[in-house]
Amino acid sequence: MKKLGIGLGVLAFGFIFVACGGDQKKTDNYGNEVNEETTVKETSTNADFPLAEQGKELFEGVGTCATCHKPDTKVVGPSLLDIAQAYKENKASIASFLNEESKPIVDPTQYTVMKANFAITKNMKPEERQALEQYIMSQAK
Ligand code: HEC
Repeated sequence: MKKLGIGLGVLAFGFIFVACGGDQKKTDNYGNEVNEETTVKETSTNADFPLAEQGKELFEGVGTCATCHKPDTKVVGPSLLDIAQAYKENKASIASFLNEESKPIVDPTQYTVMKANFAITKNMKPEERQALEQYIMSQAK
């Protein structure tokens, strides 16, 4: 039985070897081999924030957040960079803030301006608040 297992293993390995050997290997400008699968993974910036794309859509769309928040300049509201840094340092959750479960930490003096938006965010699904959180947190440096 043990021998059969090893035999199958060798067979499987042989098969994979042959299957891959047929492909033409891609190389970069320096002649290094390029594995497209791993290359895509390595350059993907949103690996830690799978919902960030959805969050961006909500942020710029139904959330109307982009009117007051820009990526790295303060307009009416703090920049996304400032918000992300503050939440990172405080290990706080933007999703809870958007559900009015936690206090403002970035600019409490302007809280009333932001508060008006809870009418929108509290009506969102928990996953959508998570998506907004991930989009903003993905802007941290
Ligand atoms: C009318 C302008 C305006 C809109 C629209 C707006 N914000 Fe804000 N936002 C502000 C202002 C002003 C502050 C600063 C007050 C504060 O920190 O609570 C703020 C602060 C924040 C903060 C930091 C809260 C903290 O801890 O201090 C987050 C996160 C945030 N906004 C997310 C959003 C999201 C997500 C949306 C869209 C659903 C949105 N904002 C829409 C004006 C706005």
